[in-house]
Amino acid sequence: MEPLLQVEHLAVSFATENGQFRVVDDVSFSLASGQTLGLVGESGCGKSVTALSLLGLLPRPAGEVVGGQALFQGQDLLSLTAEQSYQVRGNKIAMIFQEPMTALNPVHTVGRQLMEVYQLHQPEMNKGQQQQAAVDMLTQVGIPEAKARLKAYPHQLSGGMRQRVMIAMALACEPDLLICDEPTTALDVTIQAQILHLIQALQQKTGMAVLFITHDLGVVAQICDHVLVMYAGRSAEQADVITLFEQPLHPYTQGLLSAIPRLEQSSKTPLATIEGQVPSLEALPTGCRFANRCAYMTPACEQQPHKAVAARGHNVWCHHWRELTP
Ligand SMILES: Nc1ncnc2c1ncn2[C@@H]1O[C@H](COP(=O)(O)OP(=O)(O)OP(=O)(O)O)[C@@H](O)[C@H]1O
Ligand SMILES: [Mg+2]
Repeated sequence: MEPLLQVEHLAVSFATENGQFRVVDDVSFSLASGQTLGLVGESGCGKSVTALSLLGLLPRPAGEVVGGQALFQGQDLLSLTAEQSYQVRGNKIAMIFQEPMTALNPVHTVGRQLMEVYQLHQPEMNKGQQQQAAVDMLTQVGIPEAKARLKAYPHQLSGGMRQRVMIAMALACEPDLLICDEPTTALDVTIQAQILHLIQALQQKTGMAVLFITHDLGVVAQICDHVLVMYAGRSAEQADVITLFEQPLHPYTQGLLSAIPRLEQSSKTPLATIEGQVPSLEALPTGCRFANRCAYMTPACEQQPHKAVAARGHNVWCHHWRELTP
């Protein structure tokens, strides 16, 4: 099947006072309708930058896409004008951010913002139906007394409530692609579970694809079909979720998973800590970026590893993957 989104060799660079740095380098993945791809990796590895670049939302002029393409329904998202990107967002692609205030308009009530989404996407609805749909959606994301909340302004809600309103707005669009950037980290476990179920239910109903960025491997096991593990701006390993959990080949993936006892685990499982630190942008090695933390490092690792295909759909960027194969 033709993928809905095909990202090839994405490269993003940031200008800082110390120079120009490639914070995302040669990242490729594809995502089919109805599927969920998890994007995981330690803080700073480039997950959010990857998502923002797809939506034309990189902070300009510091951040810039310097290579690659991202085909979405035949259009390259990376070469859209600001106007075209705006059209695609909130229409075909919706995004749920870490920080909800960025997505909400402070001067309009929650009800008005949510009803506007229905006006745009389901113009056949009358006002009463829009309002009912808004109330239902707010209830589904776990907002009590939803009808009364329609009159609230974003600043009158708690952070967790705002997060849920933003999720409600993104889901109300019924997008073809939903990008979630750690959407539930700030929410308590019950609400998190409820929202993940809601995303899955909507996915079954509409066939939307989901790109899910998270630190939480429990969430990955629960909702992702495929996973891309990133390390310091590059791909480390890519596989379907079962293969990744059962036969991780990259030493970094193995490290992340070593603290996870079972695939069925659904509680909040943070990424395990691996000794050492991610190299700073100023001091990225020319070879394998994981080398300084890797137990398997050899002189070969001074060269950047190319993609190795361990099995169909299972890619790994490591010189030593064969030795690490169980
Ligand atoms: N506006 C910016 N200017 C300069 N560098 C930036 C900017 N935004 C992000 N970066 C750098 O890009 C790299 C990737 O950042 P990104 O936010 O994508 O990480 P992340 O994987 O989403 O991390 P987290 O898990 O903490 O959200 C980091 O090294 C970060 O310092
Ligand atoms: Mg991030």
